[in-house]
Amino acid sequence: MPRSLAAFEQKWARRHDPQCFSGVWRFHDLLPFVPVDQCVTVGEGQTLLLPSEGVSRYTGVQPGRLYLQYEGMNPSGSFKDNGMVAAFTHARSIGASRAACASTGNTSASLALYCSVTRLMKAVIFVGSGKIAYGKLSQALDYGALTVQISGDFDDAMARVKEVAAELGIYLVNSVNPFRLEGQKTIMYRVLEALRWEVPDWIVVPGGNLGNSSAFGKAFHELHQLGLIDRMPRLAVINAAGANTLYRLVEQQGLRWNDGRPKLEMICNYYDQMDAEHLRASTIASAIEINRPVNLNKCIRALQWCDGVVREVTDQEILDAKAQVGASGFGCEPASAASVAGTKKLVAEGVIDPGERVVCILTGHQLKDPTATVAYHTTDQEQFNKVLGSRGVRRAAYANRAVGVPNNLDEIIKAIKLYS
Ligand code: F0G
Repeated sequence: MPRSLAAFEQKWARRHDPQCFSGVWRFHDLLPFVPVDQCVTVGEGQTLLLPSEGVSRYTGVQPGRLYLQYEGMNPSGSFKDNGMVAAFTHARSIGASRAACASTGNTSASLALYCSVTRLMKAVIFVGSGKIAYGKLSQALDYGALTVQISGDFDDAMARVKEVAAELGIYLVNSVNPFRLEGQKTIMYRVLEALRWEVPDWIVVPGGNLGNSSAFGKAFHELHQLGLIDRMPRLAVINAAGANTLYRLVEQQGLRWNDGRPKLEMICNYYDQMDAEHLRASTIASAIEINRPVNLNKCIRALQWCDGVVREVTDQEILDAKAQVGASGFGCEPASAASVAGTKKLVAEGVIDPGERVVCILTGHQLKDPTATVAYHTTDQEQFNKVLGSRGVRRAAYANRAVGVPNNLDEIIKAIKLYS
């Protein structure tokens, strides 16, 4: 085990070695469940932490104090590759020939990519019909995964894939798989690395299945126990208001980890009530459109370790925040922007102090969901209403509208002079 986190920097000098180049296996000492020379890698985890002045201004955090962690730079375009490479490595180590997952799109894109690049396993993916964004569906199809579209949502797909995996002996790579979370710890190691091993005040992350939040809490808890960091950051998990199980349970009903003795009946009762009222998750942030988050228990443990808070943000807030990220950064998909919308809310509430150092995790690439982006910026009211109006989105305050011009040089020049 390294005596300081800075010791990991020496790995970079040996980046001709694929396991040193990988932003996951560079930290193998902190997730040593398979010998390092047997770890699969496709070059995941080359991601960036950048300060964003525009997003600082938008959220009310002091300039230079707000950072965006771009996990969309991973090979499959989302943070999932951090966890998938770990689960995939474990699957191979036990001789699996097929791997399966249910997905809102990014987990499936990631699994499909690892299968297509390495040819070590066959991917079987379950998606809710009409529930995944086009960028993600196109990846699964292009990478050659067996794609099973279920008439239902993510929770239905999750229930079925568990049954199928048990029946056919297929390796399950959803974040119920603990090795996924081991890999996702490395997102936090890279954040620390980019901050020269200083712990930020806040980590703000979207909450869906709650794998990230669980993994982040574990990462910091372990580093603290090992004496490699001297304090814990605070954690903010942001739900979409249309998929707010965690928010309801933690902030409205007072569910706590309670040192390992959470009131589990609270969760059961909530799910029973959801079923009785036929409540189903519904949000433009399709990545986090989830009713029953599989890592709920681990997440409330992380919230205890990191003195965490949970908030919900509307689809309107998500899309406005997404437009702001795009206008002053690399962009992100809707679910990712929940972290920025949540930060804005927490600053307004006085929970986050404007002078604190805040890291928002941007979980997925801008190109994952072109439908939502184009609808936000469109001049076509019908398209806006169809995609966004149905979600309660009324305005596009930060829209950048395309300018229509006739196919005529003079008119084009006139338009450019007028608008630029
Ligand atoms: N952001 C994006 C872009 C996601 O794809 C997901 C989850 C989340 C946030 C939520 O992360 O589950 O760790 O709380 N997507 C899963 C999928 C469910 O199937 O791709 P979490």
